[in-house]
Amino acid sequence: MGSIQATRGTRDILPEEIRYWQQIEAAAREILGRAAYQEIRTPIFEQTNLFERGIGEATDVVGKEMYTFQDRGDRSITLRPEGTAGVVRSFIEHSLNAQGGVQRLWYCGSMFRYERPQAGRQRQFHQIGVEVLGSPSPRADVEVIAIFADILQALGLKNLVLNLNSIGNASDRLQYREALVAYLTPYKSDLDADSQDRLTRNPLRILDSKDERTQAILLKAPSVLDHLNPDSSHRFEQVQTLLTDLEIPFLINTRLVRGLDYYTHTVFEIQSADLGAQATVGGGGRYDGLVTELGGADTPAVGWAIGMERLVILLQQLHSLPAANVDFYLVSKGTQAEGQAVVLAQKLRHGGFTVELDLSGSAFGKQFKRADRSGAAACLILGDDEAANQTVQLKWLATGNQAAIAQTQLVAQTEELRQQIHAARILH
Ligand code: HAM
Repeated sequence: MGSIQATRGTRDILPEEIRYWQQIEAAAREILGRAAYQEIRTPIFEQTNLFERGIGEATDVVGKEMYTFQDRGDRSITLRPEGTAGVVRSFIEHSLNAQGGVQRLWYCGSMFRYERPQAGRQRQFHQIGVEVLGSPSPRADVEVIAIFADILQALGLKNLVLNLNSIGNASDRLQYREALVAYLTPYKSDLDADSQDRLTRNPLRILDSKDERTQAILLKAPSVLDHLNPDSSHRFEQVQTLLTDLEIPFLINTRLVRGLDYYTHTVFEIQSADLGAQATVGGGGRYDGLVTELGGADTPAVGWAIGMERLVILLQQLHSLPAANVDFYLVSKGTQAEGQAVVLAQKLRHGGFTVELDLSGSAFGKQFKRADRSGAAACLILGDDEAANQTVQLKWLATGNQAAIAQTQLVAQTEELRQQIHAARILH
């Protein structure tokens, strides 16, 4: 029988790669913590109608990409394709608004979309996201964008462009939709097939078309910014002013509408020139109508999500990350020695050291080779003689210096040992 492989569109994140993930998570956790965001974890699957109502039935995500199935109790269940709908459901269900003020939440986890897999696009992928619920202020929009930019900067990423647009409130959008349909209808037969289909279902998404002919037609299309009412326009100007105050460069992109239906006013995406076809590192925007749409009290909100796979690709291009440091590689041979090694390893770990215990029982020569490859600062050697008199050989791998030391003494002098390990690393 052949071996079983990971399902198409999913992949394993092996230890060599996980370091990048941990780096991203650590940077995000720290930056979000400093801005008083709290972590939330919601279920990976939800009732299907949450996404149908939240994201919109005319969107690609709901129409074509959801992992939906009947469970054994005949309920329609969907693996979450994104995080916002679940967070909003939780916000309503637990009356988080009753705590007053603004809820600043963040999350990190797997999302699922049945898309055609390619570099930076998978069926199971991961997002870090934030949702700020309860503030209508443009300052909230700018705060979340600034945090997004901070995370990317902390990771050392460059060549990124912030695309910014406003799609106004629901009535601005309706007016714009009419103007766009009126402009495009005479060209209907020249549009690509997807766009023809969208002309009635979801015309704003035509602005996203990658088709050259459609793009040429769009050159003279009306701009959404000309259809904002004065309040919406003023709001968008405030966002831009604050971004400028923060020295966050941005590009106004009037074609940016995003793929989910819940957005209002500010929408944005951060793109990288180093990612190929899947250039969007992350995106988000304001969604003032979603909480009421899902049955909650009127609550303005804004947020974003970063695609972690895409960040990992960018980080891998940027630098390599070394494996975590091992302090001691412990080799042992002989019944008594192997038993003592287990105890010694435990005591050193309790003292705060990283200890890799060789469990092979193979000849010393083979164990030494592995010690050399481990990247450890020092090798500890326990054979029959050492076991008989409760000592251990301590060999510094950078210099080859070696001396016997009583096991009790080794465990007792943690501070001195720590300094020696530090010095050995500098030598390495
Ligand atoms: P989204 O634009 O659908 O927004 O996804 C955000 C990011 O997730 C994308 O920019 C991309 O980096 C990543 N992503 C999406 N699909 C895939 C995939 N198939 N494979 C790999 N990465 C992918 C949202 O999901 C909104 N919930 C963001 C948001 C939060 N808006 C307001 N609050």
